[in-house]
Amino acid sequence: MDLTTRESAITAVPGHTGNARKLRLAVILGSNREGRFGPVVSDWFLSHAAEHQDFTTTFIDLADTDLSAPLSSRPGPAVRAELDKVTPALAAADAFVVLTPEYNHSFPAAIKALIDWHFVEWQAKPVGFVSYGGMSGGLRAVEQLRQIFAEMHAVTVRDTVSFHNAHAHFDAEGRHRDPAECDAAARTMLDRLAWWGLALREAKSARPYAG
Ligand SMILES: Cc1cc2nc3c(=O)[nH]c(=O)nc-3n(C[C@H](O)[C@H](O)[C@H](O)COP(=O)(O)O)c2cc1C
Repeated sequence: MDLTTRESAITAVPGHTGNARKLRLAVILGSNREGRFGPVVSDWFLSHAAEHQDFTTTFIDLADTDLSAPLSSRPGPAVRAELDKVTPALAAADAFVVLTPEYNHSFPAAIKALIDWHFVEWQAKPVGFVSYGGMSGGLRAVEQLRQIFAEMHAVTVRDTVSFHNAHAHFDAEGRHRDPAECDAAARTMLDRLAWWGLALREAKSARPYAG
């Protein structure tokens, strides 16, 4: 997926369409580093999300928004403009997948800023993870994110996808060299996310979440 010409932080991902009952999945790429590997992982994952029967998908690339300003309950126009790139997609989502690399045993600051600028947008919704990195495969970043999303009243799903030494596992065209295991892991994570997404949507329609 060519992301180089996009002006917005949000992209609608082509996939299954035409069913209002589908869950709206927001896939968030947390790396905004110059020369990042993240788009290889997000392209791989978005192709799986697009194939899943239970989701329509939007893609939020944190490289396309700057939320590094000091937190404020009354953000000025410049910050408001940055929030407008992402907040509506978060609010509309029924479920999230966060794609995170690991930096110094944690996740990128851009993800923390996105979380901190929002609250109700995360509540009573499921969150899945795709992580990548060096030796750790981003697993430490994911475990830390679980603690933070609990504070947001979000539900993180157990099953994740992780890529250890990620660069070595994809070829120059961004294809995984041996995709059976990671394809299956993506499917499992998306299935779990769909279960939680549907369960929470039904629960919220019967009883609004009081968080
Ligand atoms: C500042 C920095 C710190 C890193 N720290 C870790 C780490 O603690 N554990 C790990 O497994 N990989 C670590 N890495 C490797 C990255 O996870 C890996 O390069 C990954 O591709 C980074 O994602 P990005 O290219 O999309 O930014 C680090 C890389 C950078 C740039």
